[in-house]
Amino acid sequence: MCGIIGFTGYSEAKNVLLEGLEALEYRGYDSAGIAFFHGDRVNTIKTTGKVSSLRDKVLLSAETMSTCGIGHTRWATHGGVTDTNSHPHTFGRVTLIHNGIIENYHELELELADAGKYPVSQTDTEIAAMLIDSLYEGDAIAAIKKAIARLDGAYAFCILFSEEPEVIYCIRNGSPLVACHAKEGSVIASDMVALIKYSREYFVLPELHIARLTKENITVTDLNETVITPKMLYVNWDVTAAQKGGYPHFMLKEIHEQPESLRSTIIPRIKNKQLPDFSADGIPEQIFDGINRVIIAACGTAMHAGLVGKVMMERLLRIPVTVEIASEFRYQDPIIDETTLVITISQSGETADTLAALRLANEHHATTLSVVNVKGSSIARESDYVLYTHAGPEIAVASTKAYTAQLSCLYLIAYHFALIKGTITETECISNIEELQSVIPAVEKTLDLAEDINKICANLKDKEDIFFIGRGLDYALSCEGSIKLKEISYIHSEAYAAGELKHGTLSLVTTGIPVIALATQSGIYNKMISNIKEVRAREAFVILITNGNAKVDSSICDYHITLPELADNMAPFTTAVVLQLLAYYTSVHRGLNVDQPRNLAKSVTVE
Ligand code: G6P
Repeated sequence: MCGIIGFTGYSEAKNVLLEGLEALEYRGYDSAGIAFFHGDRVNTIKTTGKVSSLRDKVLLSAETMSTCGIGHTRWATHGGVTDTNSHPHTFGRVTLIHNGIIENYHELELELADAGKYPVSQTDTEIAAMLIDSLYEGDAIAAIKKAIARLDGAYAFCILFSEEPEVIYCIRNGSPLVACHAKEGSVIASDMVALIKYSREYFVLPELHIARLTKENITVTDLNETVITPKMLYVNWDVTAAQKGGYPHFMLKEIHEQPESLRSTIIPRIKNKQLPDFSADGIPEQIFDGINRVIIAACGTAMHAGLVGKVMMERLLRIPVTVEIASEFRYQDPIIDETTLVITISQSGETADTLAALRLANEHHATTLSVVNVKGSSIARESDYVLYTHAGPEIAVASTKAYTAQLSCLYLIAYHFALIKGTITETECISNIEELQSVIPAVEKTLDLAEDINKICANLKDKEDIFFIGRGLDYALSCEGSIKLKEISYIHSEAYAAGELKHGTLSLVTTGIPVIALATQSGIYNKMISNIKEVRAREAFVILITNGNAKVDSSICDYHITLPELADNMAPFTTAVVLQLLAYYTSVHRGLNVDQPRNLAKSVTVE
């Protein structure tokens, strides 16, 4: 979703801003713009479409040197995709960019209209610019403070005041902003990917604190105007991690990075190569004391990781585990108390609904544990405990390596908790951990199937509907396979619990309809084969995925993908890789923008 970059320093700001916006393109957007000081005048250039079009427009504009400016990629919420609605927005002496949503914009708009002030765009953002300008009497910080007292909703702002050239003011509430000072100057952005070129050391602007960026430094003050020193964070990846590294798409690169991301996530949490150990993560064993219920709340692919986590945890812990779609959970008056462990899962750590679910859990005094990929993100900071996935930056909108890393964290939590609770023995736990480690080479081997899968996808590219079926863990994986495919190939797809087919979906299965059947679980293998026969009898085009050396009657499928042999519980990891590759190559065969699918955003910071 919308991207933000701001720079004031010693080099050409336009270049820094355009490069920053290019780095942020992955978040999903439909228009882009920059504003920069030229003397005490603010020049704004914006356009619908890609950052490359913005770059062309900037090149065509009269060449002016600038060392301070702000840039934005917009993902339309209020008002259509037009040049006028793109950010930055200027009103009077104020130019700003904004991520988030101002919920009371209409009320403010009416008030401003009473004072004879009217916006030119249809955006909530321009109302914020008008409000700040109307409150500005020569003191930027005072105007910002008065304005935020009037704003409802989530926001991250970078603001230029024409009377203070070379300075950028920033504030946030709910939407992320990270900043660093480097030899080139001061840089602020909506995520680390745009900063990494300048520094690996950065800080997260605390909520409702104001950052004042100058060439020389960044000053952070709270709302009482007390200067604070933000906590510095360090990323252990470099600029190459956020580049394609020879792969045609980020998604393919990230699929191939899974052995490494699994290794980095699993191995440091295993003590003496045998038992789970979260002490380096600052998670004491006592957090599991007295817990009699687990709720997992997340969105999208992260929620699908939760579906797998639920099966594993219930099996091992013998207490109820529910998985909640975060956007639903928060409005359902859920039953949560201090005996509940609420696990939120999020790659970005900024998904608005997941964050709101976490806040609700905190209000109800649950123990909160999050599984998050981005260090210092809002969900990580507001949870009692964090178990980070060490997947590195994930750039493609469709989540891949973050998903399997999330699975590995959920397995580790299940083993650790079960051992502490005494529902598994130490010997059982050691063998579970061994199985989990065996996933790493198995995923590596699964990647060798890429070319075969590519060929199979040639059969899928012109289809309009595709079904995924499975039981138990395979049903959870079917949900993930289906979302992956629809996200990036735009083919309608549905995941169905295989036993439920004949209660509805079977009516849609006719000659040639692709059905991707997951049959990796030996305990229910025969039941699954019966369901496959049901679709086969309706002449479906069946792609069958099995674990290891399952005996398969070749007449029941058109293609059979055999996963490297693993314990049944571990098959989700290798199955996920196959499903990711199926979605990836289908999208490639259809000639689509794999990494940035239409209408979708990587980090969904609006509710
Ligand atoms: C968006 C992304 C998905 C992701 C979901 C949750 O929809 O496109 O890939 O699974 O948000 O994001 P999170 O950052 O919370 O994992």
